[in-house]
Amino acid sequence: MLFDSFATSALRFANRIAMAPMTRCRADHRDAVPNDLILEYYRQRASAGLIISEGVPVSDRGRGYLNTPALWNEAQAAGWKPVTDAVHAAGGKMFAQLWHCGRIAHAALHADGSAPAAPSIKAAATPVMIPADDGKVISTACGQPQALSIQEIRGVIAEFAHAAKLAMQAGFDGVEIHGANGYLLDQFRCPALNNRSDAYGGPLANRYRLLLEVVDAAAAEIGPQRIVVRQSPWGLNNDMVADPEPMATYPWLARELNRRDIGFLHIYCQTNDWIHDAAHSMMPALRDAFHGAIIACGGFKTAAACEAILARGQADLIAIGKPFISNPDLVERLRRDAPLNKWDSASFYAGGEKGYTDYPTL
Ligand SMILES: Cc1cc2nc3c(=O)[nH]c(=O)nc-3n(C[C@H](O)[C@H](O)[C@H](O)COP(=O)(O)O)c2cc1C
Repeated sequence: MLFDSFATSALRFANRIAMAPMTRCRADHRDAVPNDLILEYYRQRASAGLIISEGVPVSDRGRGYLNTPALWNEAQAAGWKPVTDAVHAAGGKMFAQLWHCGRIAHAALHADGSAPAAPSIKAAATPVMIPADDGKVISTACGQPQALSIQEIRGVIAEFAHAAKLAMQAGFDGVEIHGANGYLLDQFRCPALNNRSDAYGGPLANRYRLLLEVVDAAAAEIGPQRIVVRQSPWGLNNDMVADPEPMATYPWLARELNRRDIGFLHIYCQTNDWIHDAAHSMMPALRDAFHGAIIACGGFKTAAACEAILARGQADLIAIGKPFISNPDLVERLRRDAPLNKWDSASFYAGGEKGYTDYPTL
């Protein structure tokens, strides 16, 4: 099943393997335009049925990392076009992951020096890398965030919609709304980080209002079937607090997405344990609630492990992260059950071709 094609009403994928979204920090921070090195990296991995791009900030204020290629202007869209062309030429499909880092940021990463945006003013304990005066890069605490006003929230929704439109212009086949891992949309969901008393805080429906308004605005631009929503129900990345009631939260969201005919729901299980932990009860509940395609991500390294989840009906596509960093020909290696190159975590965000485009194929 893993190596067979998979089709939704809008799209057909050559196989059920997706490359998970992974930030690699290889662009120039000043213009955030994808370059030839980024093109080569994705071209090498285009045998995946679907590539989900690294998180691409939808605005300058949405940036929380140095050197991330973005998607808020025409030059950035033009920079992505050769990338999507190369992926298509190799038979692949590619979605852009639309990203707003929210409070996981620092004013020094923003061209206008603006403070990180957040639901409320609680600063994150996560360190961020920022440029220092001497041209070096230093690690520091996230900046003090400002709570978004209603008008600014409307602006964020418009930024996501604009990025979705630019994604189509850039030749992407769809977009993934990054609602996971403790970034802005996940921060609004989290009751411990969202103290708002307006329509965007309080009950679950209010805390998910921003994400659903972003989804609706993106769907109005590109149609619901080309949209993925990513969630991390057990995620603790970026100073997140565990959801007190995941079995109430995520099936509720899944029903809302289903009502909107959204194409895909992407679940990242940080514990990597799809058989025994909470995923075991969560995934059937999501299936009941959501009739689009489900993508599962976290810890997959063998075809057998992927096939087991597909056979259990827990997912339709399997997204794989770190093994794709170190194995550009991962699909072929899984098919042959061949050994995998080990990834070098020191070069994940390091810049340059080392640990990026220089991993060997079989
Ligand atoms: C270097 C690196 C960068 C990542 N960047 C992103 C990102 O931009 N967006 C996102 O949603 N997840 C990101 N992730 C998480 C991955 O998408 C994935 O969920 C995680 O690596 C678990 O999958 P794996 O066990 O197959 O690696 C990143 C992971 C790594 C290792």
